[in-house]
Amino acid sequence: MRIDIITVVPDILKSPFEASILERAIKKGLVEIHIHNLRDYVSDNYKQIDDYQFGGGAGMVMMIEPIDKCISKLKSERDYQEVIYMTPDGERLEQKTANSLSLHENLIILCGHYKGVDQRVRDHFITKELSIGDYVLSGGELGAAVLCDSIIRLIPGVLGNETSALTDSFQDDLLAPPVYTRPAEYKGWKVPEILTSGNFPKIEAWREDQAYKRTKALRPDLLKED
Ligand code: ADE
Repeated sequence: MRIDIITVVPDILKSPFEASILERAIKKGLVEIHIHNLRDYVSDNYKQIDDYQFGGGAGMVMMIEPIDKCISKLKSERDYQEVIYMTPDGERLEQKTANSLSLHENLIILCGHYKGVDQRVRDHFITKELSIGDYVLSGGELGAAVLCDSIIRLIPGVLGNETSALTDSFQDDLLAPPVYTRPAEYKGWKVPEILTSGNFPKIEAWREDQAYKRTKALRPDLLKED
């Protein structure tokens, strides 16, 4: 999979891809991340990428031309299944979205800044608008990093144990059950006995029950759907 990220602050996006699981996925050749600085697509000397909004009002708007140049160049080189715009008024990112995006070959992610992008960018280039939650960030970069992480960990071979992404919270609209590791007792706090019983069908049933109880207590909204 290849992900092209378009941004005005490329530095923010360096570290998420230089550590841990994401770095390993890149090194293994399972994913390519290409970061494009929008200022490289500006023809004037001032490197202007934003301007005042028509009709007046506070805040600058990202101009269409550099974005068009960058997206059009990428699209001339390969086919992209989605051109995603990170914005607080987009559709909320959920596990299902990450699952389906992880099946694609090439994605473009555009990070918004200031008051956002000229609406014509959204109308003519963007195929999907995503938000990572109902709060406003200073730019779409951190949202893009969150989106990439949620997608990349689902690509086969990225996680050591193939089943571990399938048992994540949200994969079946349930939160994950509690997990424990050694020691079996710490300061008198014991691991549930069932987990050390070796009775795997019972352990599985216990986990399902815990996942359901946890979801009911913490996220009852997940159980109401469908
Ligand atoms: N840009 C600014 N706020 C954002 C959010 N909540 N999600 C995605 N992109 C954003």
